Amino acid sequence: MGGGYADAVSSGTSALFVALHALNPQPFTEVIVSAVTDPGGMMPILFLNCIPIIADAAPGCYNTSAEEIEKLISPLTSAIVVAHIGGEPADVEEISALAKKQNIPLIEDCAQAPGAKWNGKYVGSFGDISVFSTMFGKHYSTGGQGGMVYTRNEELYLKIKRVADRGKPFGLPEGSTNCIASLNFNSDELHCAIGRVQLRKLPWIVERRREIVAQIAEGIKDLEIISLPKPPPPAEPNYWFLRIQFHREKSKVEKEKFCQALSGEGLLVMPSYRFALPHLMDWFRNRSVFGESGYPWASPDYKGDPHREFPTPNALGAMEMNFNLTIYESWGEEEVRDIIRCLRKVGEAYQMD
Ligand SMILES: Cc1ncc(COP(=O)(O)O)c(C=O)c1O
Repeated sequence: MGGGYADAVSSGTSALFVALHALNPQPFTEVIVSAVTDPGGMMPILFLNCIPIIADAAPGCYNTSAEEIEKLISPLTSAIVVAHIGGEPADVEEISALAKKQNIPLIEDCAQAPGAKWNGKYVGSFGDISVFSTMFGKHYSTGGQGGMVYTRNEELYLKIKRVADRGKPFGLPEGSTNCIASLNFNSDELHCAIGRVQLRKLPWIVERRREIVAQIAEGIKDLEIISLPKPPPPAEPNYWFLRIQFHREKSKVEKEKFCQALSGEGLLVMPSYRFALPHLMDWFRNRSVFGESGYPWASPDYKGDPHREFPTPNALGAMEMNFNLTIYESWGEEEVRDIIRCLRKVGEAYQMD
């Protein structure tokens, strides 16, 4: 990451809780968060008694943008959490410039994008704090479950360590006692040992995933029914999955049917990433966090609108227009050829003449 400090924790969800708690936002303030994310990329906000404010995606993709975030900033805003989804970096340079201008701390959620870069710099090195998930399904894993909290600021790092471990007085004068209430989010030696070895492989993992995506792009470039999104020039993704654009106007069938056919060929496809919209889930709609209270939204201390709705047309549009293909760095030439063959077979069968 080019220097700084990292603390290993028990999950990506814990990492976000720790990052937010280290910032110590006032309760009933608002945290702007990407619409497209894992529930674990949003739920910790509620446990600090803060209110998630949902930033729509930029048109055509899963990631949010400075433009979408700016519309939501208010005097109640206490932090911004931006996710880099599927390994595609958000325009974090513009977002961090906005956050700095407004004096609002920025957390980058890099759970799906370790090793991705924006303008030659690793994602996670733009925000005040960044968080990572290192669970088994991620392309950089500590095995089982795990997470990481990273910052370049030593003072913030000490706060991170404190809130990651029941408020232990790390960095405070001799004789200090536990200084803030929290939980125990520590990682452990075994996971760290795995993570240290895996970290050495990360540059190769990033490279190999990019090669595979480039080969798939080349292999399907003449198809009109599907295409791969072209990352903006500053973006160097570390693909967690591959987002594939589906062009309905060129297809004889709906996307779901197209994806079923791909699954039938043995490809691991996710026809829609709709389950990555936590604000449309029951827990959010029913305000289900603390008993039946509806808190923190329902608290008289919250000065915003507790019933505020968040239309996210761009995120929903992106769910309609794209599907996701699982990819693995361990694929060899034969697997990649096979994937291309399946995409072409189904593509050619369903493409309009
Ligand atoms: C964007 C994002 N944030 C947070 C998380 C939560 O991480 P974990 O599953 O390690 O708790 C995930 C997990 O998939 C994620 O994709």
